[in-house]
Amino acid sequence: MDATSGEPKLFTPGPLTTSRTVKEAMLIDLGSREVEFTDVIAKFRRQLLDLAGVTKEAGFEAVPVQGSGTYGIEAMISSAVPAGGKLLVLVNGVYGDRMVAIAAIHGISTATVKTSDRTVPTPREVEEALAADPAITHVAVVHCETTTGILNPVTEIGRVVKNAGKTYLIDAMSSFGGIPLTFDESRADFIVSSSNKCIEGVPGFSFVLARRASLDACAGQARTMTLDLHAQWAALEKSGQFRFTPPTHVMLAFSRALDELIAEGGVAARNLRYAKNQARVAEGMRALGFHTVIKEEWQSPIITTFLDPTHPNYDFEALHDALKKRGCAIYPGKLSQGDAFRIGSVGQLFPEDIEHLLTSMEESLVELGIEMEP
Ligand SMILES: Cc1ncc(COP(=O)(O)O)c(C=O)c1O
Repeated sequence: MDATSGEPKLFTPGPLTTSRTVKEAMLIDLGSREVEFTDVIAKFRRQLLDLAGVTKEAGFEAVPVQGSGTYGIEAMISSAVPAGGKLLVLVNGVYGDRMVAIAAIHGISTATVKTSDRTVPTPREVEEALAADPAITHVAVVHCETTTGILNPVTEIGRVVKNAGKTYLIDAMSSFGGIPLTFDESRADFIVSSSNKCIEGVPGFSFVLARRASLDACAGQARTMTLDLHAQWAALEKSGQFRFTPPTHVMLAFSRALDELIAEGGVAARNLRYAKNQARVAEGMRALGFHTVIKEEWQSPIITTFLDPTHPNYDFEALHDALKKRGCAIYPGKLSQGDAFRIGSVGQLFPEDIEHLLTSMEESLVELGIEMEP
């Protein structure tokens, strides 16, 4: 249970449990054209670049985009891939599929490297796909595929993409701020994430981080007005203001959340907290008789997938409700084959919360009469 709100703690991949101070940062009504607000935006755009290991002076830009994470992904894809371009999408879960669907709506031609949602795409597969189809101009991959919690090898893939001279797009929605990801290492041209994931803000906007040269190449290419990444950036540069009404309260909360991330010790410290949470969740759940589906070497610290128990009394909704009553909200599964549920390890979750979840899980199994096989 969250001590501030009395609501269950969220063991989900975001929206997630935020700090009281992040929520309190929203208790101010600020005009979007007031200098107090535009200063906040300028500050967090710099902080975001810093998290990705770069600066504006070195030729990188941070562009906030109103709307949830998918809006940022759509802005990135529909602005970056030119008419006549071709996007290779590496798919091992629903968020890879979603990028293919976005491209299709905009009439962008695509190719895919499709792997099972329990395995990662390899650099060799990407190399082969690029060699087989010279028309490909851009490559997109999901960093942490939240479908299962699998972590894709974006750095190794980046090497192949750049050797082939292609533009590289990373959906780091559920990982940015919680798993180290820099432009240098990944060689990305664009990285997209959102306010309500590992930075631990509340939902309401996404942001695209970009190499300026790659962003410049987007000028005049967008297929929509609202999701024109280059125009969004140009307006912010010109006046410090958004083209359209920004979610002011959400952005104030996000700025506070970024300060709190830095105070925690930055991405490295947060990554360690999440990794400890995840390891304990997996260990405790296995001790109760549950089975994970992702190989240890590919498991992210963000979210863990567990196979549904085979006992006839098991029903996800009943387990969810029994846990919720005890102050823990878990997440349904999205596996392409087999039934499963997920437990997130991100947000304001600490060792005592994980222990509480495990105790609550044990009690809920007893309450529902679910005996786990040894
Ligand atoms: C990897 C990934 N991509 C994209 C999205 C979509 O974000 P949103 O639901 O905020 O639009 C999510 C959401 O969880 C995600 O985890």
